[in-house]
Amino acid sequence: MKKSILITGGAGFIGSHVVREFVTKYPAYQIINLDALTYAGNLENLKDIENRSNYTFVKGDITDAAHIFALFNEYKPDGVIHLAAESHVDRSITDPSAFVTTNVIGTVNLLNAAKEIWKDNYQGKRFHHVSTDEVYGALGDTGLFTEDTKYDPHSPYSASKASSDHFVRAYHDTYGLPIVLTNCSNNYGPNHFPEKLIPLCIHNILNNKSLPIYGDGKYTRDWLFVIDHAKAINLVFHKGKNGDSYNVGGFNEWQNIDLVKELCKQVDEKLGRPKGTSAKLITFVKDRPGHDLRYAIDASKINKELGYKPSVTFEEGLSKTIDWFLSNQAWLDNVTSGDYQKYYDKQYS
Ligand code: NAD
Ligand code: DAU
Repeated sequence: MKKSILITGGAGFIGSHVVREFVTKYPAYQIINLDALTYAGNLENLKDIENRSNYTFVKGDITDAAHIFALFNEYKPDGVIHLAAESHVDRSITDPSAFVTTNVIGTVNLLNAAKEIWKDNYQGKRFHHVSTDEVYGALGDTGLFTEDTKYDPHSPYSASKASSDHFVRAYHDTYGLPIVLTNCSNNYGPNHFPEKLIPLCIHNILNNKSLPIYGDGKYTRDWLFVIDHAKAINLVFHKGKNGDSYNVGGFNEWQNIDLVKELCKQVDEKLGRPKGTSAKLITFVKDRPGHDLRYAIDASKINKELGYKPSVTFEEGLSKTIDWFLSNQAWLDNVTSGDYQKYYDKQYS
């Protein structure tokens, strides 16, 4: 019988790349993509694979426990890869409750359903929880987050993700549920929703709008190409040690201001515009409350134990990303119509 894998949040930015990775690489798996199609979910992200025979889309909300139980009973997944979440830090500052409901309660609903359907017979079963480096809090000018770094979340988003991580480990420790976790750094790439720094700046450059840099722009993030995150999830899902966590990152730190300047330079080159055209749009704006100074991942464990290495350099990844957005302006127009403008005006006015 085909193995069945339930991927939650598969219509979102990272989830769509994970779904594609599994659908195309594992014809012997039946992949079920469960997604509520919130503002961040978009089936356009999966147009190229939607007719594959080993792919099924189910619209559903992980906060609806009864629906989740019914789905688990219907599809009897052997594995779960859980990405569905409210994912944007700024939105969590405006509306923390939605983050508790989806990220914490939604995760617990999935854990309960997996535990119930697997009925303590865990042979060949696995619950892979996809998490973030933000659970570790903020670094100063030096140091890296390892898997042993103490959790110290600051934003409502990271507090909700930390809580969900704890629940996943608690189900392992208490009920023996087979689990793995990945904590990844900032992703970038095709299909990135333009509320996040890189796609927001690309969208604004294309529309001749200012590029809002929070505070002094010296905040630092560690960036990984989204397809390399999907490959890491594939590796850990199949080869990670039961009960373990793996940090995922590319040893690729950038201060926000330098990153945006690099982005401006590359976009100008690709559009054949004079040097410095896009950089003129850079505007320093009010800082994010509780803004974490620096994130940086030590990805030695996944490298040493599972042989993981990112497949592209940052220069290649950024170039591919800009090319994708330049060739997919209809996608950008589509996701920025409707409620996006209201969000943007409220956030940046
Ligand atoms: P995203 O916001 O682009 O996508 C989230 C997806 O989840 C959307 O398709 C949305 O429709 C779906 N969803 C939201 N609430 C749901 C609900 N209640 N029920 C079912 N589906 C729901 O997020 P992303 O950036 O792709 O992040 C995916 C996961 O990876 C999240 O768990 C996030 O915490 C984690 N993560 C993200 C990054 C990053 O840089 N974006 C880095 C590390 C970890
Ligand atoms: O580190 C992993 C996390 O990366 C994920 O868990 C989150 O889901 C994901 O959204 C991302 O969080 P960040 O807050 O780091 O990403 P964002 O793109 O929102 O911001 C990146 C940096 O850029 C951060 O320091 C804030 C800053 N920023 C962001 C926006 C949207 C700006 O200066 N201006 C902006 O308009």
